[in-house]
Amino acid sequence: MKGIILAGGSGSRLNPLTISVSKQLLPVGDKPMIYYPLSVLMLAGIRDILIICRPGDIHQFRHLLGDGTRLGLRIDYAEQDAPNGIAEALIIGAGHIGTDSVALALGDNIFHGPFFQGVLEEQARNVEGCVLFGYAVKDPERYGVGETDAAGRLVSLEEKPARPRSNRAVTGLYLYNNDVVDLAKNVSPSPRGELEITDVNLAYMRRGTARMVELGRGFAWLDAGTPESLLQAGLYVRTLEERQGVRIACIEEVALRKGFIDAETCHRLGSAMGNSAYGQYVMDIAAELGESQP
Ligand code: DAU
Repeated sequence: MKGIILAGGSGSRLNPLTISVSKQLLPVGDKPMIYYPLSVLMLAGIRDILIICRPGDIHQFRHLLGDGTRLGLRIDYAEQDAPNGIAEALIIGAGHIGTDSVALALGDNIFHGPFFQGVLEEQARNVEGCVLFGYAVKDPERYGVGETDAAGRLVSLEEKPARPRSNRAVTGLYLYNNDVVDLAKNVSPSPRGELEITDVNLAYMRRGTARMVELGRGFAWLDAGTPESLLQAGLYVRTLEERQGVRIACIEEVALRKGFIDAETCHRLGSAMGNSAYGQYVMDIAAELGESQP
């Protein structure tokens, strides 16, 4: 399975923060926002990832993540000329997807919760159509809203409905089989002028091959698109990290735990940032897991 992170958009709700810096590079806690969706794809076992960003922003992302080799990944970059809609990521990424299945993650969505790795691995193993992840929210009218039957099959889906039929928001993580490239190419712009990801998902629903997996009550799904939600996301992350002494979305740790890199490499990555608490944590994890590795 290939991965795509959509990290474009104008970020206008965060102006002036986003005038010279891409939204997905702003700090959430002590790390850049894109570490969160990147770690989600890595937890799913995905190592070949395309990052799509605003024109002119590629150098910022490349400076941060390079070609991914040091994390045992392959990272490529592409530009989206204008925010023409989330589904356009699947057209821009068609060459990257090739004949494979794909996981598309929105660059400003933050997922954190128990057993998430297992859920991701299980769902990513064999995607027969599309898999969406649903989350109960108090303001569903701000999101794509879905309903499922008892078997988890999607039976209704609407984008930002004035009168939502359920409180289940469709989160910004989508798993697709290879049909998605053709389906995305067939989508027409919506009244707001965007190629809607919801229209792609509706195409799967009509075929009877769209599923929605529930992320339960103990789960956190946050987006970080406004100054308030950015601050809240950072506080959430730091509160848990301080309390538990573990880090959320530490990409070096994820790479090590997944076996993408060895403990020595992980330690080197940490020591390059050794002046920071984050770098120290990466070194500590490398030492701890290195001892338990043969
Ligand atoms: O967050 C989940 C929601 O994301 C879903 O529930 C909705 O069904 C889906 O349409 C989308 O909602 P929004 O329309 O509110 O998404 P937004 O325009 O905020 O874009 C989400 C992220 O993707 C944001 O970080 C900017 C980026 N983006 C967006 C568009 C439209 C791009 O990089 N390029 C784009 O063309």
